[in-house]
Amino acid sequence: MAKKAKTVYVCQQCGYDSPKWMGRCPSCGEWNTLVEHKLASNQKAQSTVREDLLEQRKPQPVSDIKTSDYQRIATRIQEFDRVLGGGLVPGSVVLIGGEPGIGKSTLALQMALGMHKRVLYISGEESAEQIKFRADRIGFNDSPCHILGETSVEKILEQAKTFKPALLVIDSVQTIFSEALESAAGTVSQIRESTVLLLQYAKQNAIPLLLIGHINKEGSIAGPKILEHMVDVVLQFEGDRQFFYRILRSAKNRFGPTSEIGIFEMVHTGLKEIANPSEILASQSTDCLSGTAVASALNGTRPMLIELEALVSTAVYGTPQRTTSGFDIRKLGMLLAVLEKRAGFHLAHKDVFLNIAGGIKIDDPSLDLAVLAAILSSNMDHAIGKSVCFAAEVGLTGEVRPVPRIQQRIGEAQKLGFKKIFISSYNKKNLEGPSDIQIVPVSNVADLVKSLFR
Ligand code: TYD
Ligand code: MG
Repeated sequence: MAKKAKTVYVCQQCGYDSPKWMGRCPSCGEWNTLVEHKLASNQKAQSTVREDLLEQRKPQPVSDIKTSDYQRIATRIQEFDRVLGGGLVPGSVVLIGGEPGIGKSTLALQMALGMHKRVLYISGEESAEQIKFRADRIGFNDSPCHILGETSVEKILEQAKTFKPALLVIDSVQTIFSEALESAAGTVSQIRESTVLLLQYAKQNAIPLLLIGHINKEGSIAGPKILEHMVDVVLQFEGDRQFFYRILRSAKNRFGPTSEIGIFEMVHTGLKEIANPSEILASQSTDCLSGTAVASALNGTRPMLIELEALVSTAVYGTPQRTTSGFDIRKLGMLLAVLEKRAGFHLAHKDVFLNIAGGIKIDDPSLDLAVLAAILSSNMDHAIGKSVCFAAEVGLTGEVRPVPRIQQRIGEAQKLGFKKIFISSYNKKNLEGPSDIQIVPVSNVADLVKSLFR
């Protein structure tokens, strides 16, 4: 009997596969995401579990397991090494995600050239000449790094076996494909299959692997979510249109902390490391204007410093306006009522405008204190100062409440060069250790007014 070609339907959102088509993915609940994939006839249903390897392994007591002291490989980019936790671990797989044009390829190439090791840089997106052009901009032309324009994972691995690189870079994981599958590059099953093959190669040969990944419009790395589970380190390379710097942060790191950030500036010769973040603060608008305040907020689990701008002016019309951008307008109303009732500021006849700089929308109660500070600053026409930031929630009673992960927020502010942070006095109680940043505890709104403008 002739063998029938096997077909599976794979969800492009989450990677769930099913033998028959369905309108809605039962795993992630998305509609119309199942796409037909034909498996080549010699290909059995995918399985990442190697039976032969399983047989060899035996359970052993934790105390008997020997940890090999892995020798980390320095990338010569100190900001990158710091984010990794001290360099690349042999056999580890690092995934860097970021928006197009943010500088992922530049960062990877700069690292590949600067390491002065046999690095194999696979480019599925650009030709070798384009990469050479970029390498000329960056410098380091005597590097032993090799470039290969290839998209078939089998051919890449074939080359890698003879080349024996010290580091393998794949730019990008969405452009490579495995010949075992018939679906197009960039589909969930292709990304998954190619990554599994590369990952096995990296682990077996103890070669670090750097994968570059695109991100989708929601901001997460395009492809199956399991990609992030499979790799050891997930880094995000982000930019800020307002400031000219790029931030590298780790979302996951099996070999180091996830709280470190690396800061770079894109210049005409590639990415420049910014070792001293206060440089950035100093290079922003030189004037210190009233009505601005910075909050040390959390976006998910990631800390970020956000600038708020407020403008309080005498109302032109009978009904004063309340306008916000990026901030809940009802929350603003509540905070204005608190200021009126608990600190005696009468803003009922004034227009109040509030913006979160850069058009970011963020839902974190720790912005409250910075909002109040910005409003007070504009109202009194008294600038707060560029090196001051805030992190606390404000309650209806005017009480300044503690916020979670205060240590992380203080750490981020400190890293970015801030000198003073206002927090809730309840948060102050649980803080340990000395800090390079001055911590100002406040317990209510009246307290804030006193310590800000005395
Ligand atoms: P690129 O690294 O190609 O971004 P990605 O791989 O994330 O898509 O390059 C990003 C941008 O950086 C590009 O628009 C050109 C600019 N650039 C510089 O400003 N200076 C440089 O030295 C280089 C190499 C690029
Ligand atoms: Mg690129």
